[in-house]
Amino acid sequence: MTSVREIFDTMEYGPAPEGAGPARDWLARHDAKFGHYIGGAWTKPSALFDVNDPATAARIAQVSQGSKKDVDAAVKAARKALPTWQALGGHGRARYLYALARAVQRNARLLAVLESMDNGKSIRETRDIDVPLVARHFYHHAGWAQLLDSEFAGHHGVGVVGQIIPWNFPLLMMAWKVAPALAAGCTIVIKPAEFTPLTALLFAELADAAGLPSGVLNVVTGDGDTGAAIVAHDGVDKIAFTGSTEVGRIIRKATAGTGKKLSLELGGKSPFIVFDDADLDSVVEGVVDAIWFNQGQVCCAGSRLLVQEGVSERLLVKLRARMETLRLGSPLDKSVDMGAIVAPVQLERIRSLVEAGRAEGAEMWQPSWACPQDGCFYPPTLFTNVQPSSSIAQVEIFGPVLVAMTFRTPSEAVALANNTQYGLAASVWSESINLALDVAPKIKAGVVWINSTNLFDAAAGFGGYRESGFGREGGREGMWEYLVRDDEGHTDDLAAGRAARASARGAKSTVRPIRRSAELDDADRGVPLVDRTPKLFIGGKQARPDSGYSLRVTGANGRVLGEVGEGNRKDIRNAVEAAHAAFAGWSKATGHSRAQILYYVAENLAARSTELARRLEAMSGSDGNAEVDAAVRRLFTYAAWADKYDGQVHQVPLRGVALAMNEPIGVMGLVCPDEQPLLGLVSLIGPAICVGNTVVVVPSQHAPLAATDFYQVLETSDVPAGVINIVTGAKDVLAKTLAEHDDVDAVWYFGAREGVAAVELASAGNMKRTWCEFSARAWTDAAQGEGREFLREATQVKNIWIPYGE
Ligand code: NAI
Repeated sequence: MTSVREIFDTMEYGPAPEGAGPARDWLARHDAKFGHYIGGAWTKPSALFDVNDPATAARIAQVSQGSKKDVDAAVKAARKALPTWQALGGHGRARYLYALARAVQRNARLLAVLESMDNGKSIRETRDIDVPLVARHFYHHAGWAQLLDSEFAGHHGVGVVGQIIPWNFPLLMMAWKVAPALAAGCTIVIKPAEFTPLTALLFAELADAAGLPSGVLNVVTGDGDTGAAIVAHDGVDKIAFTGSTEVGRIIRKATAGTGKKLSLELGGKSPFIVFDDADLDSVVEGVVDAIWFNQGQVCCAGSRLLVQEGVSERLLVKLRARMETLRLGSPLDKSVDMGAIVAPVQLERIRSLVEAGRAEGAEMWQPSWACPQDGCFYPPTLFTNVQPSSSIAQVEIFGPVLVAMTFRTPSEAVALANNTQYGLAASVWSESINLALDVAPKIKAGVVWINSTNLFDAAAGFGGYRESGFGREGGREGMWEYLVRDDEGHTDDLAAGRAARASARGAKSTVRPIRRSAELDDADRGVPLVDRTPKLFIGGKQARPDSGYSLRVTGANGRVLGEVGEGNRKDIRNAVEAAHAAFAGWSKATGHSRAQILYYVAENLAARSTELARRLEAMSGSDGNAEVDAAVRRLFTYAAWADKYDGQVHQVPLRGVALAMNEPIGVMGLVCPDEQPLLGLVSLIGPAICVGNTVVVVPSQHAPLAATDFYQVLETSDVPAGVINIVTGAKDVLAKTLAEHDDVDAVWYFGAREGVAAVELASAGNMKRTWCEFSARAWTDAAQGEGREFLREATQVKNIWIPYGE
């Protein structure tokens, strides 16, 4: 037996195992076989597949592979439960969310142990991080349910939501999805990942015991096929997905044109930036949290260490020394730092990416201690001498593998940090708050942690830019993902509502009797109009279309009113280039100066109102004066908003703050509605540019002359070249080109259903954000035509966490 003296001499850790008894008892009570939880009841286990403990490879349970029929039953149950759940009101739902928070706390240890057994993550993490955060999410969202009517007035839950979650934080991801959906008044069909379904099933049991009404929460287990069946189901109004970018792209394509709301939280390759004035000992602990937390199986893992040259060697020496002391072993041992990798297939993926890194010439370093051979374990790994373009620097490894690179200047750090298709998170280390806060906004990522890493809270939104997906989870920003305006259809049958709205768009809007315009008068007198050649408007200049072709514009009475250039792919390319060149200046301009320019556009538009009104009447036969007046007002609205669309300071439980900043998305493609061609155009341009985006606009195809008149207004209004670019032509063709363009960051499209489908499908290329509608809006109605909804769609929220104090 080891003596006390020997223990003091060696300072070896002894084992400190957490008991698995209660979790095993729970499994035994179910005979370790599970059906689905649908409509408040458990289905008979069928089509079973194994669930293994990654630390031992032993089977711990069997769960059912959900079929299309199971998914259908779950969606039906959710739809049936929807009206009563919505009618319950915010306060009633808050009571249930509170009850769920309490249930999680009461069963915290059981949930933590089961999670460790199922996923392989250490009990220290499940007990101290995952499960407390789960409870926090339910508490926080009980609050949003309570405040829904006052804080989200005019909105209600989108309906039945399909939620698909990954295996890396099985219970936490479930909470991130379920809590806001329940608060908003949605009912749920959720599918946990095939590797880690057990805590979702335990949670369903807890919800059942808490009396959550039947059908409000349905859990269907299974693999990607089950997930695909949820995505494809017509009775689902929204899909929320967390997982790989690859599957995110499949889901984007599958939902294109269906009218389903979509939020995607995908992969990342997040930079961890260390400036030479950083506290290197804190940095080392930060790196441990960034890449060895959850064995690196974290979507926002700080997997790229970018170090300022002068301190690089010193930091690497400290880091290797720390890596030597990390402990890896049984997830249920309370003193291990790292547990097991989720499954053999993931282990294999890590191994092969590491091999690829070595083959590319990077230097690999691992601690001297031996990694357990049984079960799925992989040691902490550091790569140096890494090329920024190499696969290990670009591909999400999703394992405990860190790649280190150096930089010389802050601008080089930003360039390296943004050299990725992802944009989920970043960590910035410097003792100079000036430097850190200067760098944070320049990084294209949804979350930036200053002198910290991997901080999460229910009050602060989380989500990505670029191929890391879109939409936010958590906080006020996350609630919007589950809400729609009250005038958007009937939630008890949204699918039918969507179809009805689609056919409404096909129907002609009421057209007033045509007033005789000056142009018609001239023609009637037999005097030809002075020929005008409207061009495209690119980079602040009128430009001839590359195609050399024109399109005829006919008026409301069928007469030819003129011709406009037929823009093509090349014109769009030039316009996107011009918009990019303008973005740096425009996005940095103050809200105050953007406001002044928008007021000036409004002033010049008003000065030409008679001419524009006539043109509108000739094109559409509607009341041109009213439309120009409404367009002037709308520009005033966004001039007003330009310096008022504030962010927030989130109340996160830490000594510090999380700043939620509304940032422009970048270069946006705006494809305008056909109704009210001038007002529709202004209603899209106004919100997009007032927050700092630059735009490529495709005006109404039937009435493009409103836009070509509008650029003359722009030319006299101090709008910097390239901020607004206008390309006329075949609307749906140009829309698709914009959606396919890799340097366009977002596309808005208002038009036909087929157009919506084409844009959403093409956007999957670089996973750009889209906002597409095939239901007609009443553009003159301020509730539908302007306001916060537009501003939200024109911005992305970056949460910057700034701890302070000793
Ligand atoms: P995955 O994206 O395939 O799985 C995530 C979830 O989507 C699971 O519930 C899965 O059953 C479901 N799913 C799979 N195919 C589907 C489809 N066609 N339609 C609907 N749902 C579908 O991720 P996987 O295969 O587990 O891991 C592969 C790689 O993805 C990892 O190595 C890692 O790089 C990345 N990943 C990223 C995550 C993140 O949070 N960013 C989470 C999990 C994986």
